[in-house]
Amino acid sequence: MNYLSTDDIDNAKQWVDTAVALKKNPLQDIELGKNKTIVMLFFNNSLRTRLSTQKAAMNLGMNVMVMNFGSEGWQLEYGDGVVMDAGKSEHIREAAQVVSQYADVIAIRAFAKLENRDDDYKEEVLQSFVKYATVPIVNMESSAGHPLQALTDAITITEHITKKRPKVVLTWAPHPKALPQAVANSFATMMQKMEVDLVITHPKEYDLADHIVKDTPVEYDQNKALQDADFVYAKNWSAYQGENYGSAINFDKNWMLTEEKMAQTNDAKFMHCLPVRRNVIVADAVIDSSNSLVIEQANNRTYAAQIVLKKILEAKK
Ligand code: CP
Repeated sequence: MNYLSTDDIDNAKQWVDTAVALKKNPLQDIELGKNKTIVMLFFNNSLRTRLSTQKAAMNLGMNVMVMNFGSEGWQLEYGDGVVMDAGKSEHIREAAQVVSQYADVIAIRAFAKLENRDDDYKEEVLQSFVKYATVPIVNMESSAGHPLQALTDAITITEHITKKRPKVVLTWAPHPKALPQAVANSFATMMQKMEVDLVITHPKEYDLADHIVKDTPVEYDQNKALQDADFVYAKNWSAYQGENYGSAINFDKNWMLTEEKMAQTNDAKFMHCLPVRRNVIVADAVIDSSNSLVIEQANNRTYAAQIVLKKILEAKK
């Protein structure tokens, strides 16, 4: 069993309910991972993913090895039949098999380069490990998705639901740098599995992929979208469509989440995956309010990772 995208969640309610139960007794499966090792490979920076996934593995009794592959590993070649006489020292074929000998699970973080849409959405790093490794693979954020974050967000929303089919708004927010669509993609596909009414809102330049949005309503007027929202999830992403792929083509400060914006909602909870740029994405008054769930989300990263690792270890038994 791999955990590559939210498509790998066969029963969202069961996974979320199990994670909520794990939270009450995080060491209940401490024997499950005894003498098993997770190797975590980071091609990009991290705070939450690194520490929460490590904590989840330790809660399951696993050994943990972490490598900042992007800065410490050999540069990898992914192409078949390449004459490796330039800068890249090691082929993924050997690297993935070698790491597999040290690991029972390999977890990988490798972001989008935002240069070429087809290359990014092929998820070359993640899929190459899937192809050549001999142990299960966990996606700790790839070029097109962040399914551990999305599972976390489903857990957090479930814990705060006070009515049937709450309105959940995924809103684009401004950011000075171009960021991948990964978090927004996985949040959307995860919410489509939940008993919620999801609305996506963003400036027209930021339409997400059709295979992500499916039949989810898209509202280009943020104020309209926020009306009566129960949960507001803010995230920046760069353009997906057309020749602007990977660009930050609009830095409209009016899309920042402010108290005035949140006043249009049904006293909505504010969510963000973190790290967040204060007073760019969200005003201090919103993120510091009692309706902000961002710290709880970060805590739930542990239980999302733990349910994923638990299922992988149980499937391997
Ligand atoms: N939300 C999230 O993935 O945080 P990090 O990038 O710090 O891991």
